[in-house]
Amino acid sequence: MTKFAMIGAGRIAATHARSFQDIDEAELIIVADPFAEAAQRIAAKTGAKASSDALGAIRNPDVEAVLICSPTATHVDLIRAAVDAGKAVLCEKPVDLDLGLASQLEASVPKDARVMMGFNRRFDPSFAQVNARVQKGELGKLEQVVVISRDPAPQSPEYVKTSGGIFKDMTIHDFDMVRFFLPDIVEVEAMGQNVIDPALIELEDFDGVMVTLRSASGAMATIINSRRAVFGYDQRLEVFGERGMLQAHNQLPTSVRSYGADHAEQTETYLHFFLQRYREAYACELKAFVDTLNGGGSFSPSLSDGVAALRLAVAAMQSARSGRRVEVASV
Ligand SMILES: NC(=O)c1ccc[n+]([C@@H]2O[C@H](COP(=O)([O-])OP(=O)(O)OC[C@H]3O[C@@H](n4cnc5c(N)ncnc54)[C@H](O)[C@@H]3O)[C@@H](O)[C@H]2O)c1
Repeated sequence: MTKFAMIGAGRIAATHARSFQDIDEAELIIVADPFAEAAQRIAAKTGAKASSDALGAIRNPDVEAVLICSPTATHVDLIRAAVDAGKAVLCEKPVDLDLGLASQLEASVPKDARVMMGFNRRFDPSFAQVNARVQKGELGKLEQVVVISRDPAPQSPEYVKTSGGIFKDMTIHDFDMVRFFLPDIVEVEAMGQNVIDPALIELEDFDGVMVTLRSASGAMATIINSRRAVFGYDQRLEVFGERGMLQAHNQLPTSVRSYGADHAEQTETYLHFFLQRYREAYACELKAFVDTLNGGGSFSPSLSDGVAALRLAVAAMQSARSGRRVEVASV
């Protein structure tokens, strides 16, 4: 049984805390957050001990693995502290908002450091199956990838202010999804729009973006993001190759369909947001982390994958601001 410390006890931590109930091989023994009530809330539900001392939790000799769920600005220091203490790390995305700091961390941790990044969508059963079938060669040579990702409703301007902006906070998942299929992206072109919340213009951020990416193989990808989709969380994937295409569609809360004089095949709106849509993915992510820890092999997505996705986010922002195509190698 792998014993974990969880650092940070907010929104995403509550979701990960639930995953421990689904996985026999993992036990949460400490949850640390400077906001004592938050730590106690998760501790009460899981049987873990609450603490306000993140470093103490990381260095606790009973702790073998650290799950970092604290704000992005804390990730680099906490990953370093956990690696220095000899612990395996599963860290939420993104590595940092500063590509320089993230790259320095990547360069300075030992090559055999056990670090995995929390790009949960790789573990969604539908997206994972598409990837496994592509790896087996079902589509032949890949030619095009389309990722559509729209949130149900905009985050508040207060959230956006500290989030790092749409590319580093939201599109980062889609950059990683593209790299799941096309790891070697060499060129990025992006445009942004402001059609939902004028407050974002002052924050120099966008509420929708479209990004085109070219890989070294010649295959291309498109990412479509919006901060608002009135019909629910819109999460779709299409992978197209010389021998066919695989698609993963949106998910509904139930299979009920309504038919009447003025409508057919009417359903509820899609699963509301990431906590609902990716609940299973978070559990599969934790299971994959524990399996790698116990079974050997390299952690994937790795810290380098985290830095690579961040590099694409920086390239996309440069492109959206300059109106030019950006070579990833120049970033
Ligand atoms: N993979 C995903 O789908 C996903 C979804 C949401 C958030 N995230 C990421 O998870 C991280 C946390 O986001 P959130 O929405 O849960 O934030 P949140 O604000 O809800 O929770 C963060 C918690 O961390 C605590 N904290 C602050 N500094 C700390 C420190 N030094 N040590 C320990 N705890 C500390 C805060 O008190 C708070 O309780 C962010 O990096 C975010 O990008 C990932």
